[in-house]
Amino acid sequence: MSIHKIGILTAGGDCPGLNAVVRAVSKNALGHGIEVLGFKNGFDGLVRNEFINITDETVSNILTQGGTILGSSNIANPFKYTLPPFGTPQDPKDLSSVVMHNFKENQLDALITVGGDGTLHMSQQFVDLGMPIVAVPKTIDNDLCSTDQTFGFDSALAIATEAIDRLHTTAQSHHRVMIVETMGRYAGWIALRSAIAGGGDIVLVPEIPYNDEVIVNHILERRRKGKTFSIVVAAEGAKNEAGEQAVTRTVAGSTDPIRLGGIAYKLSQMIEDKTGIESRACVLGHTQRGGTPTAFDRWLSTLYGAKAMDMILEGKFGYMASLHAFKMEEVKIADAIAQLKRVDPQGPEVRAALEVGMSFGSTQIG
Ligand code: F6P
Repeated sequence: MSIHKIGILTAGGDCPGLNAVVRAVSKNALGHGIEVLGFKNGFDGLVRNEFINITDETVSNILTQGGTILGSSNIANPFKYTLPPFGTPQDPKDLSSVVMHNFKENQLDALITVGGDGTLHMSQQFVDLGMPIVAVPKTIDNDLCSTDQTFGFDSALAIATEAIDRLHTTAQSHHRVMIVETMGRYAGWIALRSAIAGGGDIVLVPEIPYNDEVIVNHILERRRKGKTFSIVVAAEGAKNEAGEQAVTRTVAGSTDPIRLGGIAYKLSQMIEDKTGIESRACVLGHTQRGGTPTAFDRWLSTLYGAKAMDMILEGKFGYMASLHAFKMEEVKIADAIAQLKRVDPQGPEVRAALEVGMSFGSTQIG
């Protein structure tokens, strides 16, 4: 099959490296004389048929830019479309046939979808309807299996680690407990790796239920040893032994409507009440998704983008570009979404953290 024109979209929560992928895909495609349409705001652009014609000029100088020049959306799901004027949260519409129609109308030979779990699920649904799609794995959460690492994660990790470094000095000056809350949804990768990299004292991840008393005792034990401050790194999705998580809002129409957040404030109050030590919460939030990608994410995004276009040329539809042992490979989208990649409580990273004296606030581990 010869390829003349492709589409590309960036969907879900944005992250550093999206533009680097768009650039790599486009440069590879344009180099082969293939036209590239950049659809706006994720799948919304294919519903509304809104796109830009990508030229060499469009992708010049965007390698280091955060965000996405195409825009993104984590609520535009064509299978359950809730945005005006076509649908509402109360009455979601299935507009997948509109997307299929626009794909054909624009004479596209293939589509590259750049996104996380939600985007990959939608991509697989369109693959099942016969659309030739190649996917690129994006998310700061690093929770996609079938790839060693998603792009965006390394940048989020760098931001969280720098925050922990900075919080150390203020915690030390005021002899306080600082609780830093990271993103990551139902996976504790950002919290665990930044806690290891930044030397956190306690780390709470969704995969290992925490217990208030264990947290408090670890902080008091540090006091007894003369350490007058403590740093707690809490993943937004951390759960206590009763299975409770902090939810900040629900977003109607989103593929995953639950927005986690706020655990740092709860812990700060609990720790101050139970230890008498002054405590403060610091929620990193969307700073973890902003700004320029790290060198590693620029490298990874470029490899992912170039590979995705190669896969199109080879007709590898229904597949996702994947990183395995520092090499680019291909995996079925269906396999990549079969389950989330989560921290293994028995794995080597948790063991290493314990071995350097970190607590998981758990009665089971440590
Ligand atoms: O999936 C990326 C992510 O940043 C999660 O870590 C976080 O839970 C969620 O998106 C936040 O979504 P929103 O941008 O809708 O607040």
